[in-house]
Amino acid sequence: MSNKPLVVITRRLPEVVEARMMELFNTRLSIDDNPLSKDQLIEIAKEADILVPTVTDKIDNDIIDKASRKLKLIANFGNGTDHIDIETAQKKKIIVTNTPGVLTEDTADMVMSLLLAVPRKIIEGEKLIRSGTWKGWSPTHMMGRRIWGKRLGIIGMGSIGQAVARRAKGFGLNIHYHNRNRLPDVIEEAHQATFWENLDQMLPKMDIISINCPSTTETYHLLSRLRLGTLQSHAYIINTSRGKVIDEEALAELLYEGKIAGAGLDVFEREPSVSKVLLEAPNTVLLPHMGSATVEARIEMGEKVIVNIQTLLNGHRPPDRIIL
Ligand code: 8YV
Repeated sequence: MSNKPLVVITRRLPEVVEARMMELFNTRLSIDDNPLSKDQLIEIAKEADILVPTVTDKIDNDIIDKASRKLKLIANFGNGTDHIDIETAQKKKIIVTNTPGVLTEDTADMVMSLLLAVPRKIIEGEKLIRSGTWKGWSPTHMMGRRIWGKRLGIIGMGSIGQAVARRAKGFGLNIHYHNRNRLPDVIEEAHQATFWENLDQMLPKMDIISINCPSTTETYHLLSRLRLGTLQSHAYIINTSRGKVIDEEALAELLYEGKIAGAGLDVFEREPSVSKVLLEAPNTVLLPHMGSATVEARIEMGEKVIVNIQTLLNGHRPPDRIIL
């Protein structure tokens, strides 16, 4: 029996991260990488001193209420913490941390990948080649839409939104954004970005929308049926944040009706299930929540988890704690 605190990790993490955690803590690893059921989560919350969940673990108030008094830290492996009831955790004096910063650039790269893939029909072209039915070059074949010179509206101008802006500027896009707070002048000027206080005024003016805000009660269906309906019919939507920010059903309908030109989605409302309407919607590129899926980001996320745990065990406040 070890008297080191018990750290329970819900999913398989990169090998180097697991190895280091095994050296430092009394660590219980996931054996099969399967997402845990609610009952399994309740069981581990009753035993663990520190819990390391991921986006696939819904840590709701019931689980936190049933957790043992030993549970001191929920060190999330990931940036978004919308799957954790932080309010209940705080009431029970359980610290919640995340892994900010280290997945910013990779997620922004994924935004750019989708932002290019959808209007330029990358997946369609690839499928055509592999189907063996390509008849050869023609002047009007595979015509997508131009990117440069277009207006990109970024919803949520935090670190990922700004990393998108930096990249998009290099591709000749004009940067517009909507955010709860306006950025300081110097940052706005660096991005040559135009601030829209009112999202409803920004949406009808944009050619491409990128969603980079967190999922909260305020941002639930922020892109509602009504708002989606105000987009121009040549507009594209990219979402690498959380599925809940868009009314997916309305989006699928508008895509069918040709009222929105296309969508690039890395996240969905009910992952891993993707609604049939979206699967069948035209001009969409759908990815399995892989925005931060680089070896480098996932190792650095693990390092952040380790630092948060070790700092607490050393008697200090973990650097990445979430404060409501
Ligand atoms: C992570 C993400 O892969 O960090 C986030 O919020 O959405 C993803 O990029 C996932 O959360 C890991 O738990």
